[in-house]
Amino acid sequence: MYRIAPSILSANFARLGEEITQVVASGADWIHFDVMDNHYVPNLTIGPLVCEAIRPVTGATIDVHLMVKPVDRIIPDFARAGANVITFHPEASEHVDRSLGLIRDSGCQAGLVFNPATPLHYMDHVMEKLDVVLLMSVNPGFGGQKFIPETLNKLRAARDRIDAYEARTGRRILLEIDGGVKVDNIAEIARAGADTFVAGSAVFGAGRDGDPNRYDTVIGALRAELAKVGA
Ligand code: DX5
Ligand code: ZN
Repeated sequence: MYRIAPSILSANFARLGEEITQVVASGADWIHFDVMDNHYVPNLTIGPLVCEAIRPVTGATIDVHLMVKPVDRIIPDFARAGANVITFHPEASEHVDRSLGLIRDSGCQAGLVFNPATPLHYMDHVMEKLDVVLLMSVNPGFGGQKFIPETLNKLRAARDRIDAYEARTGRRILLEIDGGVKVDNIAEIARAGADTFVAGSAVFGAGRDGDPNRYDTVIGALRAELAKVGA
């Protein structure tokens, strides 16, 4: 019912494989993979080489969040590197429908990412090509920022559109949230309609380095909060 997707942006990159093994063993469903180009967003992170390197480490879904412009050139590289889900920001593509098609043609699930001020109508005419809608609850570029409360209203509006589409077609689109998700707000975010939760600093910042149970504790706490929400 709910998916938890730790963002490796906050992991220890000196031992990335081990970090991924540990969060998955602690119950993470997806691995969220933040790609930044110091152009579309003011930060620079990781690309297809790192995706390829972590692919053999885990069977978990690799959820690639592209914060790059342009997007099309790099899509097949991520598909070849083992990505399962690829999402991008509509403002970063000249041809949103084509980019979504490229992702699906390369065998991945496709999604659009909405910045805090990006209107939801970008999804209206491409619902057929969407597997995931990702709402940013911070401005993209950095981990460890504070959840923007207006996102709760936006989540409710996105939930309505996705539910109406599902009622019409029988096809389910996931609603993912990214930014500032913590143990103390995840239940409220789920009640507003999210079903997939990215958490970077909340997961990888938890506990003490070297403590083998550090991720069990925080992922368990996130799940306990979600259990209070029910179906
Ligand atoms: C921000 C990234 C997020 C980030 C979330 O641009 O897209 O995925 O890692 O980090 P937290 O959970 O710390 O806000
Ligand atoms: Zn992200």
